[in-house]
Amino acid sequence: MKGVILAGGTGSRLYPLTRITNKHLLPIYDRPMVTYGIEALVKAGVTEIMVVTGGTHAGEFLRLLGNGHDHGIDRLLYAYQEQAGGIAEALGLAERFVEGDRLVVMLADNIVERSIAPAVEHFADQDKGARILLSRVADPSHLRHLGVPELDSKGRVLRIIEKPEDPPSTYAVTGIYFYDSTVFDVIPTLKPSGRGELEITDVNNWFVSQKTMEYDVLEGFWGDAGESIDAYYTVNDYVRLNGANKD
Ligand code: DAU
Repeated sequence: MKGVILAGGTGSRLYPLTRITNKHLLPIYDRPMVTYGIEALVKAGVTEIMVVTGGTHAGEFLRLLGNGHDHGIDRLLYAYQEQAGGIAEALGLAERFVEGDRLVVMLADNIVERSIAPAVEHFADQDKGARILLSRVADPSHLRHLGVPELDSKGRVLRIIEKPEDPPSTYAVTGIYFYDSTVFDVIPTLKPSGRGELEITDVNNWFVSQKTMEYDVLEGFWGDAGESIDAYYTVNDYVRLNGANKD
């Protein structure tokens, strides 16, 4: 399975910090944010990784990660996203790297307390399609900033709503996604959303429509450190006290 870390975008919710650097290079406790996603993949046995980034600080990722060997990566490739055209657009840049294999995608502003290895194993056993990781979020005002699944009485995903006014469940769709290579046939069919981006939620809803979307519910803490400056500090405080990517 290949790994793709998405570290592009503008990080505008963390302005002015992100006017002078890329969001994913900001510190979470004692090291740059992007290294947590890399550690999550490597600890789950995913050691062929592409980092997709963009903007004026892309070169700093090379300085930080080099050839990846110090971070446990066997093969590290980079792609450059010319504009912040959305998560799905950024993922599309990894098509040739993935070469028909399966992949796990991680948004580089997502931090997890516990290992994602169980989900990697579940997806390896899954026949085809896609898999998402959900996290329980009780507060509806928080869910309004995220993707939220609507579930039927058997717990199957009916659809995912991006940033819903009225969240249909108490689960957030985290930024950790698993796909088979059909994802690269779906991305070129997408139309830009109201915010002018190719949305990963539209990709996920395609797999829902094919009835090939499965999910796991994450144990432990999950945070999106790019959601707001308060979320950034919540994640920092949590990781400083409790660590991340624990077995
Ligand atoms: O964190 C989980 C949430 O991430 C999900 O619940 C949402 O369904 C999903 O759409 C996404 O929402 P955000 O509004 O948080 O996405 P954001 O625009 O902050 O982008 C998240 C990461 O994706 C960002 O840290 C880097 C990468 N990205 C984003 C864009 C827009 C790129 O690499 N390129 C891009 O053009």
